[in-house]
Amino acid sequence: MAQLLSWTADLSVGIDAIDDQHKRIVHYINQLHEARLTQDRNDVAAVIEGLVDYTLSHFRFEEAMLQKALYPMLPVHKKVHRLFIRRISDYQQRFALGNDVAEELLITLVKWLGNHIKCEDMDYSPIVRARISEADLRQLKKGKSDSPQRP
Ligand SMILES: [Fe+2]
Repeated sequence: MAQLLSWTADLSVGIDAIDDQHKRIVHYINQLHEARLTQDRNDVAAVIEGLVDYTLSHFRFEEAMLQKALYPMLPVHKKVHRLFIRRISDYQQRFALGNDVAEELLITLVKWLGNHIKCEDMDYSPIVRARISEADLRQLKKGKSDSPQRP
């Protein structure tokens, strides 16, 4: 089945751990697109849940990395993440009430992910690459799997 969104080099922030997580989110977006086409509400529900859980865990990882890098714009970046979580929660609630939100949600996700990566995420790239080592990233990944609580 045709993909809705493809990973392209212009989405790379130059940090493999982050690129891998963003690729996984792209994969979830494509899964949601496929689930929507099958019109199976259970499939759509499962993908939305997986996508939301994974995005929350990605944000936690990214924020921990930015904290470690003493990235000065972290408070603003966190705020952007929180606002996005609120928007997605609204879609989840509407979905739970029986509304068909998949198409709207997909449009939001595709737009938001591209903009966020190219603007806010690109902005931290030079600082993180200068201040965070591979060993730091491995440590952060361990911490991520050790503390799976939601924000
Ligand atoms: Fe981000």
